[in-house]
Amino acid sequence: MIGGGTLLGAPLIAAQTDIIPRGSRSAVFNQIYWVFLVLGTLVGVIVIGYMLYNAYKYRAGRAAGSERSAESGEGGPALGELPQGSGGGRKLALSFTLSAVIVISLILWTYGTLLYVESPPDAEESMEVEVIGFQFGWEFVYPNGNTTTGTLRVPTGERVRLRVTSRDVFHNFGIAELEAKADAIPGQYTDTWFIANESGTYQAQCYELCGAGHSYMNATVVAMEPAAFERWYANTTPANGTTNASPEDAATTTASTNHGAKADVAAAPGATAPRAAALETNAAEASAERSLAR
Ligand code: CUA
Repeated sequence: MIGGGTLLGAPLIAAQTDIIPRGSRSAVFNQIYWVFLVLGTLVGVIVIGYMLYNAYKYRAGRAAGSERSAESGEGGPALGELPQGSGGGRKLALSFTLSAVIVISLILWTYGTLLYVESPPDAEESMEVEVIGFQFGWEFVYPNGNTTTGTLRVPTGERVRLRVTSRDVFHNFGIAELEAKADAIPGQYTDTWFIANESGTYQAQCYELCGAGHSYMNATVVAMEPAAFERWYANTTPANGTTNASPEDAATTTASTNHGAKADVAAAPGATAPRAAALETNAAEASAERSLAR
């Protein structure tokens, strides 16, 4: 079952690709949950059922009322008598072996499954995006150096690796619908990955209270068909933006420029101005998104 590998890990995964669930992280964890739930319920039903059966079979009234059955060992030991094992411990050995097989299989299976979930996908089979949180927004740096703020574009059906960090305080980057979440901690990177199986727009949010703009610290995740994504990605450049700027990118740039200007002008009234600006940015992006979809 484990192949010839001396080390657990890659050989284990290679030998068990059929057994070990694939898909998104949430799908994998979901499968682990169900396997444990079903097996746990099965073992519980057998153990409790067997216990109740024996409690009934060897109930007090029966043992006391029948001397003969006590002598033959059927009715259980009489008072003051040591119980005699039936079958020379075969039941014990059988149950012990069965439990050991189940437990060891579960450990190996879970270990292999978690290795798959926790090991980041290979560079060839996935795209890696650096996610940088700041008060109050998200910046995305693609492998070619292209940097965007507020919108993350990913291809559908592919594992996307995220390296999440922060520029100032603790944040937490999460995309609820895609079931991905990772801490954004200044000075260090947290790795995670996800798959967007369906194209569409998802919302990413900050999941750690980080200041006055925390509730507005969100970003848009746009999952595109791989071909469309490649077209878009081919036009991006390291120098912060796109060469053939799509309407969406133009809107984003305008919005963020407004954001900056407004925040500067309205610095005095307090924290509400950045919020309003952030909302405006989102609104602008959302409308640009709609126009792009048409
Ligand atoms: Cu960043 Cu909450």
